[in-house]
Amino acid sequence: MSVAVCYAPAGRKGPTTMTSNVIQPVGIRQVAVIGLGLMGSGIAELVARSGRRVDAIEVDQGFLDQGMARLHASLDRAVSRGKLTDAARDEILARIRPTVDLAAAVADADLVIEAIPERIDLKRTLFAQLDEVCRANAILATNTSSLSITEIAGGTRYPARVAGLHFFNPAPVMKLVEVISTVLTSPEIDETLALLSRDLGKTPIRVSDRAGFIVNALLVPYLNHAIWLLETAQATREDIDKAATAGLGLPMGPLTLLDLIGLDTALAVLETLQAEFGGTRYVPAPLLRKLCDARLFGRKSGRGFYDYQRPGSPAAAGKDHEVGPVPAEVALIREQDDSLGELAGRITAAGISVVPHPSGQTGLVIVAADPKQRVLDAAMATAHPADVVGVHFIRAGNFIRAGNGEPGLAELVLPDVTAAGMAAKAAALAARIGLNAVISRDRPGFLVEALAYAQFNDAVRMFQDGYASPADIDTAMMLGCGYPHGPLQMLDDAGPANVVSVLEAMHAATGDPAYTPVPLLAEYATAGIRFRS
Ligand code: 3HC
Repeated sequence: MSVAVCYAPAGRKGPTTMTSNVIQPVGIRQVAVIGLGLMGSGIAELVARSGRRVDAIEVDQGFLDQGMARLHASLDRAVSRGKLTDAARDEILARIRPTVDLAAAVADADLVIEAIPERIDLKRTLFAQLDEVCRANAILATNTSSLSITEIAGGTRYPARVAGLHFFNPAPVMKLVEVISTVLTSPEIDETLALLSRDLGKTPIRVSDRAGFIVNALLVPYLNHAIWLLETAQATREDIDKAATAGLGLPMGPLTLLDLIGLDTALAVLETLQAEFGGTRYVPAPLLRKLCDARLFGRKSGRGFYDYQRPGSPAAAGKDHEVGPVPAEVALIREQDDSLGELAGRITAAGISVVPHPSGQTGLVIVAADPKQRVLDAAMATAHPADVVGVHFIRAGNFIRAGNGEPGLAELVLPDVTAAGMAAKAAALAARIGLNAVISRDRPGFLVEALAYAQFNDAVRMFQDGYASPADIDTAMMLGCGYPHGPLQMLDDAGPANVVSVLEAMHAATGDPAYTPVPLLAEYATAGIRFRS
């Protein structure tokens, strides 16, 4: 390290007095990464790519070999994609020293990044040990997903040098780093870690120590919500994922993303959120616990919501809906706003007869579906409720912006009175006329808005709590999770008053207080104010 900053009194190994020195990134040359799981191996790769020497540390040889194999595979992939030369890969690997000898490896480290399993007892023990064996001027960072960094630091004699440095999976790719300070972290350490993050090619967002920080506090409850939707038969796993990708423009569906980050990690985050905030929003879906009990953790164990051991591309091999015969005649109950006018044109163009009222010849009755209301009521108003399917369009310009995902998504909504076979007919019709469609049960919000609006509500609560600004919340979700737009920008696009109405309908239908619009959202809706202007 080029700048000597000592956080311990002379002759001791830890800090009690602070200097005002901020260490420039160039002063952090040797980094120890402890734990070579999914995140640790990615962090080790990232740091080594930046030209720094990395001690990659695991608890035993087996885990070390697994972690290094993952790291090699990631670099090999970059080579095969033409992003890295063979020589560059070899140079990166030469900077990484795999080892199981923790004490020896951390002795000279300028920075230690811990990425071991999410157990507070393990982390506290490790940090107490690091406190003993690291240099007095070493910085100790944890990549914890949600555990209290204050509690981790509390196990050390010199908590001023302990902070959070939270990366996102895949660590070499995602551009965000959350830099987390406790009340005891020195401002110089916070600044040093922010500068280092930029030097690693990332954008740092600085936050205080609170369960889930920004991203996991918003992402993981949304992922859990998706599991509840699956478990309560709202839709198939493929349609839940498609609602997020085609309806919201997200890079991955929630169930696929859960498989990527690990179901055990998601469960641990929820338990921390639940312990800190209480309420119903963070209660883990029973299915999540069951999959974890069965050790089906996602990609890393070969199976989670999808099966990665079967040949072919498992996530892409989702089962399609049963497709029935295309109806020869469709009744389209058109509203005053004629939101189904375009649909009528497409059906007619496909050679299918469209009538304004159902008769004995009609194979399918389509009504406009409103996420605030039950399709059931519209179905009962027709003479043929068992033949009714609601259609709700997520259009470009709402979530998916123009030019980003035409033609958006159609939610085909089935009230519980709909006869067996109607879903197959509706799917056949959608396929014939080229609609990108998902099938949802008739519950307020259907799929897209149920998932999105509950998360928007969480984002407003975070702002209302004074934890993060709307700009930081949006940037964090865009850079940490690849969102095309942040949740508060999307909320503005959807209209706060509209979001409040759908949330109120979700609350009324479920009785779940998690969907009550937070006061600030209701205020903005009343005042007609936007969160991002
Ligand atoms: N390791 C290293 N690099 C990887 C990778 C991995 N596991 N997966 C993908 N990449 C690289 C590819 O090599 C490619 O690089 P290139 O552009 O230089 O060639 C780039 O990422 C894009 O990959 P692909 O073209 O194969 O795939 P996609 O375009 O579908 O992108 C994705 C993959 C980047 C993972 C994208 O789907 C995405 O952004 N998903 C969202 C991920 C997310 O939300 N992460 C945060 C989870 S929360 C978290 O980690 C916090 C924790 O505490 C729980």
